[in-house]
Amino acid sequence: MRQISRFASLTVLALLSLACFCVAPCAYIGPVAPFLSTPMPTPAPAVVVETRIPDDTPTPADTPEDSSYGASGLGDSYYPLMGNGGYDVQHYDLAIVVDMEREHIDSVATIDALSTQNLARFNLDLWGFDIESVQVDGQDATFERDQGELSITPADSIPEGEPFTIVIIYSGKPGEGAPPGLLDLLEGWNFYEGGVLVAGEPGGADTWFPVNNHPLDKATYTFRVTVAEPYVVAANGVLEEEIANTDGTRTYVWVMDDPMASYLSTIAISNFERVDSTTKSGIPIRSYLDADIRREVEEPTTRIPEIIDYFETVFGPYPFDECGVVIHELDLGFALENQTLIVMGYQFVNEDVIVHELAHQWFGNSISLKSWQDIWLNEGFATYASTLWIEHTQGAQAAQAYMDMSYEYFKEIPEHAMVIIGDPGPDNLFDWAVYERGAFTLHALRLTVGDEAFFQILRTYADRYHDDNAGIVDFIALAEEISGQELDDLFQAWLYEQALPPMPEQ
Ligand code: ARG
Ligand code: ZN
Repeated sequence: MRQISRFASLTVLALLSLACFCVAPCAYIGPVAPFLSTPMPTPAPAVVVETRIPDDTPTPADTPEDSSYGASGLGDSYYPLMGNGGYDVQHYDLAIVVDMEREHIDSVATIDALSTQNLARFNLDLWGFDIESVQVDGQDATFERDQGELSITPADSIPEGEPFTIVIIYSGKPGEGAPPGLLDLLEGWNFYEGGVLVAGEPGGADTWFPVNNHPLDKATYTFRVTVAEPYVVAANGVLEEEIANTDGTRTYVWVMDDPMASYLSTIAISNFERVDSTTKSGIPIRSYLDADIRREVEEPTTRIPEIIDYFETVFGPYPFDECGVVIHELDLGFALENQTLIVMGYQFVNEDVIVHELAHQWFGNSISLKSWQDIWLNEGFATYASTLWIEHTQGAQAAQAYMDMSYEYFKEIPEHAMVIIGDPGPDNLFDWAVYERGAFTLHALRLTVGDEAFFQILRTYADRYHDDNAGIVDFIALAEEISGQELDDLFQAWLYEQALPPMPEQ
């Protein structure tokens, strides 16, 4: 496990010095990025990477053969086939009947979209399943499949700027037919003994529903999940209805009415118990804890309201209508910040992880990435939020000691193995450097522009891009605008060069 290997490498001295400041040392001494369990750091080839602050954000690159065909990808530099062009999904309504014994689902996906061009044909992303029918605006459509691409030809071409509705009836075992790498990493929908776990980052949503699978196309969702009693279903948003059916099944209707990136959509099924609380500002917290392990895992979840209350003072209002965690009785090597319903395995539940995933609700969820290359905007920010929480709960000195220790430890990484965090590449998306050096980058910005400008930058960023997408260039422009300083050199050194810059003087 990542935090253990790191932990083992820390000197006794470092532990002692940290323990002097930590009221709750166990929560913190496996510092930063406890959200992953891959070995760290990931060695990168010893090449000089020539990367510069990009001039512009990527534009859709895939040019289809016919101008009335929607593109099969959105031009993401890491995942060119993720997402599709030619339309903008408004709402997904997913009615899913889950057979826990057969590990099988029967689904009807109803997708409301708006065309952004004349569409004789368009694609959705979906791996596996038998598709029984596809209709567009009530008329049968023809379709073809090629790996994760589903191409749909409606009976009549859709003019630009028109709303249209796609209904797809499909069934099968989620993930069957998907490339093996995806499910090895538990990316997507996973049946396990007594439950279902869904963790989609970055691309796993297409293992369970037809989707425009890129954060650039955010949409609202309704999940209508039917499962045999006594299973309990949690999902993003609010539980609008729970229907007891006559055949011994129950249908849970969950609604996420704020725009959401597809990778953050989630369903969780198990023998959960629901636990409710509320923040000072009145945000309802509803968490779902596996009944068998509730006693072991509940304690750190009771601090969710307090953590949100604090983040509202530094980042601005909590961006959604509710929040909570779902804790599976599963040995998961990571946690995921699913919008309003953070997913966790039982052995990964501690305050630091909860703090990190809650910070993602502002940075990563409300503000979505423009491209996966911008992952620093998610992970660096959520990791730095842990330092802010230490500063709030244990004081500035403890936070400084924590930063110093992390920086000293990080310095030991050989330069050639240093991942370029402004362009880590798809294999290093969740590399420790993106988290840790990502957090240092924000600390360096804070020391450069001063506290007042720094927190103004964070709040303005959270406000200006809420329910929207941002790229690294947008953040840099905003930081320069608010601070009135030229910051290219700072971001160039921290984000786009291998050598670890010195921390600016206090
Ligand atoms: N975004 C998650 C976090 O930092 C990490 C997700 C890792 N993804 C994965 N497929 N293992 O909290
Ligand atoms: Zn994270």
